[in-house]
Amino acid sequence: MNSPPANNIRSERVSSSITILGSTGSIGKSTLEVIALHPCYQVFALTANNNVAEMLQQCLRFQPRFAVMVDADAANQLEQVLMGQGSTTRVLAGEEGLLAVATHSAVDTVMAAIVGAAGLPPTLAAVEASKKVLLANKEALIMAGELFMTALAASDAILLPIDSEHNAVFQCLPPESRLAGSDIRRQGVRKIVLTASGGPFRDVALETLQNVTPAQACRHPNWSMGKKISVDSATMMNKGLEVIEACFLFGTIPRQIEVLIHPQSIVHSMVEYLDGSVIAQLGSPDMRIPISYSLAWPERMNSGASFLDLTSQPDLQFFTPDLIRFPCLRLGIEAAEQGGTAPTILNAANEIAVDSFLSGRIGFMDIPVIIARVQAQITCRKADTIAIIRQADEHARAIARELTART
Ligand SMILES: NC(=O)c1ccc[n+]([C@@H]2O[C@H](COP(=O)([O-])OP(=O)(O)OC[C@H]3O[C@@H](n4cnc5c(N)ncnc54)[C@H](OP(=O)(O)O)[C@@H]3O)[C@@H](O)[C@H]2O)c1
Repeated sequence: MNSPPANNIRSERVSSSITILGSTGSIGKSTLEVIALHPCYQVFALTANNNVAEMLQQCLRFQPRFAVMVDADAANQLEQVLMGQGSTTRVLAGEEGLLAVATHSAVDTVMAAIVGAAGLPPTLAAVEASKKVLLANKEALIMAGELFMTALAASDAILLPIDSEHNAVFQCLPPESRLAGSDIRRQGVRKIVLTASGGPFRDVALETLQNVTPAQACRHPNWSMGKKISVDSATMMNKGLEVIEACFLFGTIPRQIEVLIHPQSIVHSMVEYLDGSVIAQLGSPDMRIPISYSLAWPERMNSGASFLDLTSQPDLQFFTPDLIRFPCLRLGIEAAEQGGTAPTILNAANEIAVDSFLSGRIGFMDIPVIIARVQAQITCRKADTIAIIRQADEHARAIARELTART
């Protein structure tokens, strides 16, 4: 019997109205590429910080009802140009604009793809408004995981992970325990294995790491991503953040999570069960795969990504990460174990340190040193109110700024 080509397997899907927070970034653009293949998805709103040129192109092509620019000058500029072009898209500004389009009653799905802590308010608001939230903005969950999961439990929201590793784990878990907030320890799961490429500096001489440039750090061997996550991948802080993310999403503990370096980025993560079975998710390293999976969930649809040809792949390798080379991974795991405001402090210090590295103010190996010093100076607390989280975040940023200025 002939099977139809996988690309043509499509079921009828009900139409869906989407807000993309961070549409001008790497994940935002990939989301629009997937949406462009499927007319059942309507773009309700697009948001950015200040990239007017990219937002203008997106508005002209996708004609959203709203476009939000956080920067007020950028919003004015966009509004003028769009009006001049006869566009009906309404332009909003600031954080209020983000909150309005993340919670609007006409929206059912929110792609959370703002980078960093700035994504927390609209992403949390989307959860509280019971949207289907596709979570790329891991920093939002890391800085306020407990609040986030409490809001999720109290709402009718669905939270689907976009990070390729967590999306892979989601696909490998038993269906009844996939949705965020469930406790996988009761489902026969022995451990979760998160894979990591090891980034561009996996094999370079340790003594050269301090002098690597931002351009070298952003040149990821397998993935094309925004600058902040590219540096996080180079330090492996990204994997530390992902251990914390996995604990919140899948109701597990750091000891149940193993990190393995897998340079080929083909196995996106695995779940090992008590009987010795290991279920892995494989695919090309292309974010359109987890994005289209989450958009279509619980169905499947064409993502536009190329199909995997295992016969033409190099050998798949797996290594234990070297925590001397990657101290940020250790810091991430320790913050996951500590809990409370420790992940909030880690995330804030990391954002400031990465920004300072990208602007040439500190060296690459200063990143973990600054984060560890910030952690040492702040006492962790229970992270159960937004006020406590804001305070820990601001305190950590202030100390990190002071330390980077002195470095
Ligand atoms: N890229 C990936 O492959 C990948 C994979 C897994 C997870 N993620 C996660 O997805 C998130 C987005 O990553 P990315 O690589 O797409 O980042 P990116 O390319 O840097 O894009 C960031 C987006 O956020 C917007 N933004 C930046 N600062 C903002 C602020 N203060 N307020 C509101 N919006 C702001 C940017 O707008 P402007 O363009 O106007 O600056 C842009 O639209 C991150 O949390 C990252 O960890 C990314």
